[in-house]
Amino acid sequence: MKLQDILDLKAQLVESDLPKVKQALREHVQEVKAAFLAATRPADLENEKAKAIKSLSFKEFVKRVDGANQTLKKELGAAINEAARTVEEELRLRRKALADEAMNARLNAEKLDVTLPGRIQQIGTIHPISRTWMRIEEIFASIGFEVGDGPEIETDWYSFTALNNPENHPARSMQDTFYVDAKDSEGHFLCLRPHTSPMQVRYARMHLPPIKAIVPGRTYRVDSDATHSPMFHQFEGLWVDEYISLADLKSIYTQFLEQFFETKKLNVRFRPSYFPFTEPSAEIDVMFEEGALAGRWLEIAGSGQVHPAVIRNYGLDPERYMGFAFGGGIERLAMLRYGVSDLRLFYENDLRFLNQFV
Ligand code: PHE
Repeated sequence: MKLQDILDLKAQLVESDLPKVKQALREHVQEVKAAFLAATRPADLENEKAKAIKSLSFKEFVKRVDGANQTLKKELGAAINEAARTVEEELRLRRKALADEAMNARLNAEKLDVTLPGRIQQIGTIHPISRTWMRIEEIFASIGFEVGDGPEIETDWYSFTALNNPENHPARSMQDTFYVDAKDSEGHFLCLRPHTSPMQVRYARMHLPPIKAIVPGRTYRVDSDATHSPMFHQFEGLWVDEYISLADLKSIYTQFLEQFFETKKLNVRFRPSYFPFTEPSAEIDVMFEEGALAGRWLEIAGSGQVHPAVIRNYGLDPERYMGFAFGGGIERLAMLRYGVSDLRLFYENDLRFLNQFV
């Protein structure tokens, strides 16, 4: 007799039915086991488990027993518990078998090749602009220059007026300079510094001569194409002393370029130019004797002897002190050193580009 048939009987169960029930339970457990084995997916197995639990409900059996017959209830309970335990054990075995099968299938599918190289953790590296910046600092430090630092939000007084820029000079205009819609406590307009030259004045006011310093940092101009970015980097150089000459400046700058480009096969020339804050003024050009850039004069920086009016704004006597200043783009040097033709590549953060500087 099937378990369900016993439960369907209208009559009450009595002691003599016990062997029959136990036999039915044993057969039922075998059926459940077969159903478990037939389940090939975990979800199917869990369905079978739910069915099995329902079929072994003690409550269903007790309904068929005279309420007072404690002995029979006890015997039945023991038999059902025993069956439930077996079912549980079968379930555990089948679950494990299915999990093992799934794992093996996955391992086979992945065709694990232990001879493949390991996965390397990606680590960040120093950005080519930072790298160039650090290199410039290192070289100038090695030839006796201090390294300074100053504000990116400047006043137009430090950016222009103190640097002997006439009020109507085009460099002040909105086309070049980002102005901030605010003034400082002295009523000077604020702007994003369009060059690092304001740091000549700030630095010289804070230090006593002799002064030998470079100040690298961010600068901003309303400008954007393959060789200009609205945010870029410059480094300012300032050298103030009693007896120095343009020859000293040329020698220092040539040493710097030789170290920076790691070659002595280059020529440096000072080409006459104009800046309001230097007189005379010169563009510093470099020409390499070999390599991809050989044979062409390349503009590197602006420079000159500091104008007496600016020396006065340093808080120094132009009759006693003279100075040389130079300023150039860090991107420009990085582009020449690494052979990069589009400055925007430095700011797109494309890993295919950046990984070349690891
Ligand atoms: N500040 C100038 C520029 O941005 C460069 C410069 C610096 C020129 C120092 C002379 C002296 O173009």
